[in-house]
Amino acid sequence: MSRRPLVAGNWKMNMLNADGVALAREIAEKYAALKSPKCDVLVCPPAIWVAGVAQAVAGKIAVGAQDCHAAESGAHTGDISVPMIKDAGASFVIVGHSERRTNHHETDADVKAKAEAVIKHGLTAVICIGETEAQRDAGKTIDVCRSQIQGSMPDGATAENVVIAYEPVWAIGTGRTPTTKDVEDVHAAIREAIAAKTDKKTADGMRILYGGSVKPSNAEELMALPDVDGALVGGASLKAADFWAIVEAC
Ligand code: PGA
Repeated sequence: MSRRPLVAGNWKMNMLNADGVALAREIAEKYAALKSPKCDVLVCPPAIWVAGVAQAVAGKIAVGAQDCHAAESGAHTGDISVPMIKDAGASFVIVGHSERRTNHHETDADVKAKAEAVIKHGLTAVICIGETEAQRDAGKTIDVCRSQIQGSMPDGATAENVVIAYEPVWAIGTGRTPTTKDVEDVHAAIREAIAAKTDKKTADGMRILYGGSVKPSNAEELMALPDVDGALVGGASLKAADFWAIVEAC
């Protein structure tokens, strides 16, 4: 089963409008100049810049939001719904990033409800999972990932409407990464967990990204692993040259 890799940039709470538009435009232009690109590219700016960035990249690369509310509309001050994200020109939404799970106390059930809203409106959910350092030290990495897949993946998940991002919490923004053997083992276990939750065909087609301190110097090695189907990139997605080097590694 061949899976088309996806390189996704998660800008987090960074970038003002003009810099974000310039960054996205540079990536989009480089991508559009490729004769036969071997991977998909996605940028996820802060919600307030999604519409402007979507307009700037003009469909050359995909644009996503970093979070959403599970409801379509209503009395949720400060929140943003999936129909709004779609209307702004995005086609992906990251849900369940560890910074949301930690800082906003989002549970697997919350993440599942958000992912359900994303796929209901025809967008693709990038569902993030991953263990903390304490869980890793306790030998619970695979159990944690399995239970997050079980709890966060919506029932209607397919290889088209869901992407999984495995991001060990301790590797995010720290410059530390698991060994390639660990990444390989965890990704294989995640694919088994997806098969248990859906079916083998869905699991074989679903993209599993690795995230956590991906940079130009380690991208090639990580992207070459058999069950790694791309990357979710934080810090290194803020500089066009670094992000582009990761796209090229893919
Ligand atoms: P990082 O972040 O690449 O800066 O480690 C990854 C992420 O949180 O998605």
